[in-house]
Amino acid sequence: MTKNRRWIRWCGGVVALALALLGLLAASDAEPQYCTTKDTYLYVQPQDTAQTCGLVELAVPATALGEQGGYVQVRIEGWQLKDAPRILYALEGVRIRQAILDDCAQQRIQVVKTVTDPDTGQVWNKVRLEGFWLPKKDIAQDLTKDWDQAEALYQQNCSVCHALHDPGEYTANQWPQVLKSMTPRTALDKTQVAWVTKYLQYHAKGIAPTQLPLPCCSSRSSDASAQASPGSR
Ligand code: HEC
Repeated sequence: MTKNRRWIRWCGGVVALALALLGLLAASDAEPQYCTTKDTYLYVQPQDTAQTCGLVELAVPATALGEQGGYVQVRIEGWQLKDAPRILYALEGVRIRQAILDDCAQQRIQVVKTVTDPDTGQVWNKVRLEGFWLPKKDIAQDLTKDWDQAEALYQQNCSVCHALHDPGEYTANQWPQVLKSMTPRTALDKTQVAWVTKYLQYHAKGIAPTQLPLPCCSSRSSDASAQASPGSR
């Protein structure tokens, strides 16, 4: 069990402190930060469900730019392989998928910077997508409970036949492949698999919490995070 202590509280402690600092920076421009709580569509207009430009997966950060009739206008940032602009990822070179973009979304992508991966030679664009709308019911500012639940699902379902594997045993690019062979042996449904996948990817080998904090897991105030010592749960 001690082996697993290390990763169990990434939502708190040092990460929360780092996030609190980030939060201070983010708060200064007063744009509320949300994350998707389920797979949801990118809507072109608020309240017009006919026109969509892509699918946003769960646990994707989105900055609110405005609000109208139960919809929130957002900015989403991420990374794209230059030669495969249909998929938006959370980080350069790391296949934590954020969204699948239709042509109408790809046309509105702004490239912030371009990086060539020295290991693979792949060209990645850091991009920004602004102005689409998400249903307010499908986003939340605090996913702490969802992440706790994902962690519990992982621990309960993935330690039945063998000892629980440390999320840091595999990279974020490897976990989906492992899960493809393992989740059919569990009773996890599709949504639960999606949460567990994201949970493991964000805790994977090579992902530092400061580089890629667990999205919307920052609700703890700086007071609370100052009190939380490592391994305090
Ligand atoms: C019904 C039993 C069972 C359950 C439940 C189960 N596993 Fe496994 N797991 C195995 C067996 C058996 C192996 C040995 C390799 C194989 O059979 O594919 C294994 C191997 C592994 C490996 C080693 C890599 C590999 O592919 O050989 C990892 C990592 C793993 N499991 C993760 C998980 C995760 C994550 C879950 C929960 C989603 C899970 N397992 C649930 C039976 C299970």
